Amino acid sequence: MSKEILKTINIKKNFQNRNKSITLFKNLNLKINKGDLVALVGPSGSGKSSLLHIIGLLDEPTNGKILINNQDTSSFSNLKKDVIRSRSISIIFQDNNLLSDFTALENVMMPLIIRGEKEKVILKKAKKMLKNVKILNRSDHFPNQLSGGEQQRVAIARALVAETKLILADEPTGNLDYKTSEEIFSLFLKLKKLNKTIIFATHNRELANRADYKLFISDGNIKRVNAQN
Ligand SMILES: Nc1ncnc2c1ncn2[C@@H]1O[C@H](COP(=O)(O)OP(=O)(O)OP(=O)(O)O)[C@@H](O)[C@H]1O
Ligand SMILES: [Mg+2]
Repeated sequence: MSKEILKTINIKKNFQNRNKSITLFKNLNLKINKGDLVALVGPSGSGKSSLLHIIGLLDEPTNGKILINNQDTSSFSNLKKDVIRSRSISIIFQDNNLLSDFTALENVMMPLIIRGEKEKVILKKAKKMLKNVKILNRSDHFPNQLSGGEQQRVAIARALVAETKLILADEPTGNLDYKTSEEIFSLFLKLKKLNKTIIFATHNRELANRADYKLFISDGNIKRVNAQN
């Protein structure tokens, strides 16, 4: 069995805005192994969120290929991409993306409902995950009744409840205090022990330095650097 979970081949990304074109990535090649805990770093606007969206099959590259578990996803239909995401990829968005008409608990249950798991199991798993991120006491709150950090923790719970092999997290600790950030990072370390792969974008230098390695994006290129540097 291959040790690679993700590979990108010559990814290029242009954004066309009115008559102006931005080249975000020129020729991006990445290989990520199962069980890697990777920090995605780089200045604001360098393309961290865009790259996570592309890897998460939510956006397409202008050119190039994304292989997930050795499967080339470039010819996949949107339906097939939805299936891959539901089974294999969890995404924690920078702006949370919680469903406003649903409570915290319902938001966390959602990925498992979509997957068609049994209701009893869903409820149990969702509550356990809310407990893991220390927000079980806000289960019945709607997103607009939660603080920014609480919403972020619900979004993390929603992503982790699905127990997928690949977890993409966009500034998952951006709104969290030191102690809560540490707790979330500990969760990531636990997931790594279960051979899950986690790629997290962050401006937090200290957390980035505790990853297995850093991927530094700048000027359309990506460079692998050892953590601690
Ligand atoms: N849909 C779009 N159309 C045009 N330009 C876009 C689009 N999405 C992103 N961009 C541009 O691409 C660049 C990268 O954005 P991105 O959100 O990936 O940066 P980032 O590294 O995540 O930054 P931050 O650290 O601030 O979150 C930005 O300059 C942004 O303006
Ligand atoms: Mg971003």
